[in-house]
Amino acid sequence: MEKKAKVIVDKDYVISKVDDRIYGSFVENLGRCVYGGIYEPGHVTADENGFREDVIELVKELNPPIIRLPGGNFVATYVWEDGVGPKENRPCKPDLAWKCIETNQVGTNEYMDWLKKVNAEAMMTVNVGTRGILDALNLLDYCNRKGGTYYSDLRRLHGYEEPHNIKTWAVGNELDGVWQVGQTTPFEYARIARETAKAMKRQDGSIEIVAAGSAGQEYSTFGVWEQTLIEEAYPYIDYISLHQYYRNDEQDTSNFLAKTLAFDDYINSIGSLIDYMKVKNKATNDIYISLDEWNVWYHTRAKDMKDIKLRGDEWPIAPHLLEEPYNFEDALVVGAMLIALLRNSDRVKIAAYAQLINVLAPIMTDDNGRSWKNTIFYPIYYTSKYGRGTAIKSIISCEKYDSKDFTDVPVIDAVAVVSKEGDELTIFAINKSMEDDITLSLDLRSFGTVSLKEIIILKNGDVYAINSLQYGEKVKPISKKIEDQREIKLDKLSWNVLRFDIKAN
Ligand code: AHR
Repeated sequence: MEKKAKVIVDKDYVISKVDDRIYGSFVENLGRCVYGGIYEPGHVTADENGFREDVIELVKELNPPIIRLPGGNFVATYVWEDGVGPKENRPCKPDLAWKCIETNQVGTNEYMDWLKKVNAEAMMTVNVGTRGILDALNLLDYCNRKGGTYYSDLRRLHGYEEPHNIKTWAVGNELDGVWQVGQTTPFEYARIARETAKAMKRQDGSIEIVAAGSAGQEYSTFGVWEQTLIEEAYPYIDYISLHQYYRNDEQDTSNFLAKTLAFDDYINSIGSLIDYMKVKNKATNDIYISLDEWNVWYHTRAKDMKDIKLRGDEWPIAPHLLEEPYNFEDALVVGAMLIALLRNSDRVKIAAYAQLINVLAPIMTDDNGRSWKNTIFYPIYYTSKYGRGTAIKSIISCEKYDSKDFTDVPVIDAVAVVSKEGDELTIFAINKSMEDDITLSLDLRSFGTVSLKEIIILKNGDVYAINSLQYGEKVKPISKKIEDQREIKLDKLSWNVLRFDIKAN
């Protein structure tokens, strides 16, 4: 029997203007993200600064407006002064997070040069785990002051006459984590965040501050951490960060796809906490969410952690680490997470899929200088391209299923975006059913006359299909034109982009 679902998209059901920064990403000095990823002097496409132009082109396709750097866990022992000035004088230092040697050949100024090439701004993370407020102030002075102080003049001496004017600053990373160098209690971090943010804003009133939330909902201090942080630091912080990686160790596709329900709950629970704390603190400013690490991460996790443990005295430079061979079902989960980010775009103003190149990444390179697109590249690419404008709620009536950890999981999930120009409507929709194609009956009447111009479909008969240089792109979207505008079939296990022109009423 043909299965049906109904979707109403009404132009008055506005969720929010989408902040383009929800399509941000993350670059950490970890594995081959920086060295062998964005930076490889000697590569055939390397520019005069050693940046790979093949990688730059791929990053430009994804078009992330903001990139968080340089960590991640790496930042906990990072000394930014090691990464500025003449490259031949820069020291090699141990990176305790990933048990590697950091050569410091790419540091603050190189990041900023590279960001210009990919048209992105920075979210700069400061090390409060092992350094502190003064270090954050010095880096801020180096980056944002025109001149006339020791650090701003040092930047000019290093060849950067104009300040970098970095607007978004993050105070540390996952300091609740037992793995973190400089782990704190909720109260300790709340005070550090408050005092760092206060001092940084006193030095440069134009910046915005992202305070570090928990490493994830599963950690013991989750909730208390956020409550204490907001309580203490309310007037000084603009965003609280959330991190979420999904895994499918049990190879249970239905349950894996259902996990995005928990993603919505995660965002909503912190959103409610923010609202409550705003009332409690009698605050007038708003705090938004920066979901600055999100993705699927599990294929290589256990092996990577074991390898790090077994390395003994070996401290490699830029080894292969966290290089996930993403498969088709991972791409579906990433597509579903993007739908959830749009649905929560009233709360989530910044997000960063973690990470950008080689490490948990949509863009991959190999040791022979080639590059390719991991499966998750495609949902990110299309949502970043067509998901800018105003997010509109979809009212969906469809079948539901139960899985190992979830009940009543709607088989269809969808959200719509009206373009900034108001002339295009795009519906992002996933069919999570493993058995059934589902025909959507779309009610778009509030938009007047619309015409479907394209359907982009990401589907595959094999949930474990991957993309590789050896076997090619097994997971790649197709584009289709169809006649019937109101009844649209979504193939079982597919992620879809329905693109409509909005004609004048
Ligand atoms: O993205 C990989 C790691 O995951 C980051 O360094 C850390 O912040 C998180 O635990």
